[in-house]
Amino acid sequence: MNMSSKEYLDNMFSLKGKTAIISGGAGVIGTVMSKALLQAGAKVVIWSRSEQSVSEAVQKIIDDTGMTHQLKGMQIDAGEENAVQQGLAELESEFGSPDILVNAVGGNIGKTDFIDTDIDTFKKVLEMNLVAGLVVPTKILASHWIKNGIKGTIINLTSMTSYLPLSGVWGYDAAKAGVLNLTQATAKEFAAHGIRVNAIAPGFFLGKQNRAILVNQETGEYTDRGNQVIARTPYGRFGDPEELAGATLFLASNKASGFVTGVSIPVDGGFLIDNI
Ligand SMILES: NC(=O)c1ccc[n+]([C@@H]2O[C@H](COP(=O)([O-])OP(=O)(O)OC[C@H]3O[C@@H](n4cnc5c(N)ncnc54)[C@H](O)[C@@H]3O)[C@@H](O)[C@H]2O)c1
Repeated sequence: MNMSSKEYLDNMFSLKGKTAIISGGAGVIGTVMSKALLQAGAKVVIWSRSEQSVSEAVQKIIDDTGMTHQLKGMQIDAGEENAVQQGLAELESEFGSPDILVNAVGGNIGKTDFIDTDIDTFKKVLEMNLVAGLVVPTKILASHWIKNGIKGTIINLTSMTSYLPLSGVWGYDAAKAGVLNLTQATAKEFAAHGIRVNAIAPGFFLGKQNRAILVNQETGEYTDRGNQVIARTPYGRFGDPEELAGATLFLASNKASGFVTGVSIPVDGGFLIDNI
């Protein structure tokens, strides 16, 4: 019997029956990824550090999609092993075992010449992007999946700095190079368990964490750095976070990307292929 194109697409991309955790799901990119997973049929659990950001993100998703079911927000510090373990146990009783983990915690703090690096800030950025942004949630979820024979999938957030160092953001450069490295290393380690690990590398999107560097907070105009980014992006603009939804669904679906592991997909308007 011929499948209709709707049936074909459902079969390829539907996430019905799946549960996804979006760690850092209250951020600009995390919220869009949460929405995409919810609309593709998954139950979605948003983790974020502050209660207020969790409830604002949940409300935004309800406003944008009209969907109130299958959506839960939890206040979890993704860098705290005990909190993540407890969060996992708590959500399991309501939503069942998660199948998808999105590691969307991360961001940059400030910009300086290397010799002016503030070491505490540098450590904070590493801690946020690598430890909270990958290591702790990956350790807890992968351990749960391996023990229970679940073939889960992980989507990390790499960056242009994972490939080409950006000036002035030293901790972010180091952390995101590490995120790409650990995406590949954990993909290899978990392949024997059928657990896939991939990443999305967004070009430049206006998030909470990078807005201060890219947009003048008083005038609302782009900063010199913001204009440089646009000049170096062949598409000549910042990305719209909604443009990350397609890559998210591709990587989340075992049907669509079941043999894809250890890759990082740039969604960057051509930033990485800019030349002269
Ligand atoms: N915006 C961009 O242009 C861009 C480009 C490349 C990569 N990225 C990456 O994408 C991810 C999301 O970025 P964004 O722009 O949405 O940033 P964002 O600042 O809007 O979101 C990050 C979220 O993580 C939360 N968070 C921080 N530490 C946490 C912790 N310990 N526990 C739980 N939550 C925590 C923050 O409260 C925030 O809600 C980050 O890893 C970022 O580095 C963003």
